[in-house]
Amino acid sequence: MKRVVEGCPPCAWFRRSLVVRGGCDYLARMAIREILEVPDPRLKTVSKPVELFDERLKALAADMFETMYAASGIGLAAVQVGEPIRLLVIDLQPEDPDAEPEECDHGGHHHTHQPTRREPRVFVNPEILDPAAELNTYQEGCLSVPEIYADVDRPKACRVRWQDLDGKVHDEVMEGIMATCIQHEMDHLEGILFIDHLSRLKRNMALKKLEKMRKAA
Ligand code: NI
Repeated sequence: MKRVVEGCPPCAWFRRSLVVRGGCDYLARMAIREILEVPDPRLKTVSKPVELFDERLKALAADMFETMYAASGIGLAAVQVGEPIRLLVIDLQPEDPDAEPEECDHGGHHHTHQPTRREPRVFVNPEILDPAAELNTYQEGCLSVPEIYADVDRPKACRVRWQDLDGKVHDEVMEGIMATCIQHEMDHLEGILFIDHLSRLKRNMALKKLEKMRKAA
């Protein structure tokens, strides 16, 4: 999933902060993968459950984080990098209240930005147990549907059960943008994109806009 860029697109601060900040010991081994984009038919694949919790799975998750951060995303499903297995990575990258604000100048406009911090989370074989009846509307975007953003309604909260990279089972109630993001990513496991939640008219308009932008590029 991708959200509307908050911060300063003119100075590309948002993107830079995500690439430079954080970092872990597996960083050196990671590789950026190609992200499949609509209308690639592989995005419609229903992903298979993960059965082997091996080094290959860990390496794929590491690559997915690298790919997601480089693309300024907050969530990515394995199927989006061409691996149709039930694996998701999410990092909402919240602002870090303890960090010193960064000074920024662009176009003669001086201001500061609050740096973000990394909170990487991996979900293997995730399941939604009891979605709330109450809905929440959030403007969503997707790394597989570049430059398109649209409001989508989803349950406001949900309990999620998943396994980590070692196969251990976890269970947690998700709320807010985390609930939205995990539901968006779990849709990918069923071959569903956020634009599939829109009316046919709105979906076609979005796809036409994307086609136009590709031609102009
Ligand atoms: Ni997506």
